[in-house]
Amino acid sequence: MMVLVALIGAYLLGSISSSYLVAKKWAGIDIRQHGSGNAGATNTLRVVGKWAALLVFVLDIAKAMIAVGLGYALTQDETVMFACGFAAIVGHNWPVFFQFRGGKGVAATIGVAAMMVFFPALIVGVIAVLSIVVTRYVSLGSIIFAVGLPFSVWLANEPPSFVWISAGIALLTVFRHRSNIQRLIQGTENRIGQRPTGGK
Ligand code: G3P
Repeated sequence: MMVLVALIGAYLLGSISSSYLVAKKWAGIDIRQHGSGNAGATNTLRVVGKWAALLVFVLDIAKAMIAVGLGYALTQDETVMFACGFAAIVGHNWPVFFQFRGGKGVAATIGVAAMMVFFPALIVGVIAVLSIVVTRYVSLGSIIFAVGLPFSVWLANEPPSFVWISAGIALLTVFRHRSNIQRLIQGTENRIGQRPTGGK
């Protein structure tokens, strides 16, 4: 019973779309109708500005960490904690409070990974950041981070349940970045600091 309460609570926490709220307050717009159309920090940077984007990034990481903390508070079970992080990412991507139109879950994934698998996440995180610095494609770095995570978690000898949940997060991330992947292949993906050429 507590497991279910934790998972639902985590999903609801994840459903708080900070980019929607910040962009509404800051610029009076629905972030999902501008730039790439994604409710996330990258699109907030593109459409609203760097301080708003930083706030969104921090809030999205924090809500995912709180979701993991909720799992701990209610069950003290590490697998449930990680599953709560997964539920928060699902909430971020398909938020019940915002017509199920959310983001791509990357900042939330960073929050979950920092709590559950800090060192494996740090290693793929460094590689992901380097790829963003070199290419200026945030989406590419996001995909590298998420897809690399289960391998890094596995190599670090973490419990099998951690590997599986990380693999689930990787699948979610790739699924949510379908249009980014298409644009990357076509060479039309948006780079940071450039006007957006395509959405969602
Ligand atoms: O975290 C989302 C990022 O990977 C891509 O965002 O707005 O360029 O689709 P966006």
